[in-house]
Amino acid sequence: SGRGSNFQAVLDAMRDGRIRATCVGLITDNPKAYAAERARAADIPVTTVDYSRFASREEYEKALLRELVSCNPDLLVLAGYMRIVGREIVKEFNGRMINIHPALLPSFPGLHGQRQALEHGVKVAGCTVHFVDENLDGGPIIVQKCVPVLEGDDEEALAARILEQEHRCLPEAIRLFCEGRLSIVGRRVIIR
Ligand code: GRF
Repeated sequence: SGRGSNFQAVLDAMRDGRIRATCVGLITDNPKAYAAERARAADIPVTTVDYSRFASREEYEKALLRELVSCNPDLLVLAGYMRIVGREIVKEFNGRMINIHPALLPSFPGLHGQRQALEHGVKVAGCTVHFVDENLDGGPIIVQKCVPVLEGDDEEALAARILEQEHRCLPEAIRLFCEGRLSIVGRRVIIR
């Protein structure tokens, strides 16, 4: 999305030792992403694969895959990546790619999860970290956190309340992954 607050929450968790891992790189499709500033401030290499510079989605995906593979990460984290991840990338990073989504999946996948929740009239909303598979926001769920929807909430107020939980949820899921405590059994993620 450009703001990069989830990315920052992960960096903070690495810095204070909650996550025992290093970030090998930040890759963004948005040349104006503020996440890139955050990465540079933390001496993390930044690569931009600017979607608008490619003739087709296929070409973009190919270039992105090349960059991802050259980083050689143990885990690929999507934090505010607003595109559908292509088949080849999903295949390459099967079981080692996770995403944060601002809704309690499987409710409200896709864009504007918070708005969808509000419009539906749910009383509880939240966020989900899940493994990425070929279905949009559909992979096995690792961690979820919920928040109340309050009378008078607008989209902004609800999104802010959810975002606070996103900043806890994503580092927690990464920590569990890095500690080797996650296994996928069918649709379920078992936490040891
Ligand atoms: C978050 O709500 C995330 O769940 C969604 O996009 C937003 C990104 O925020 N996919 P930030 O860039 O991490 O601040």
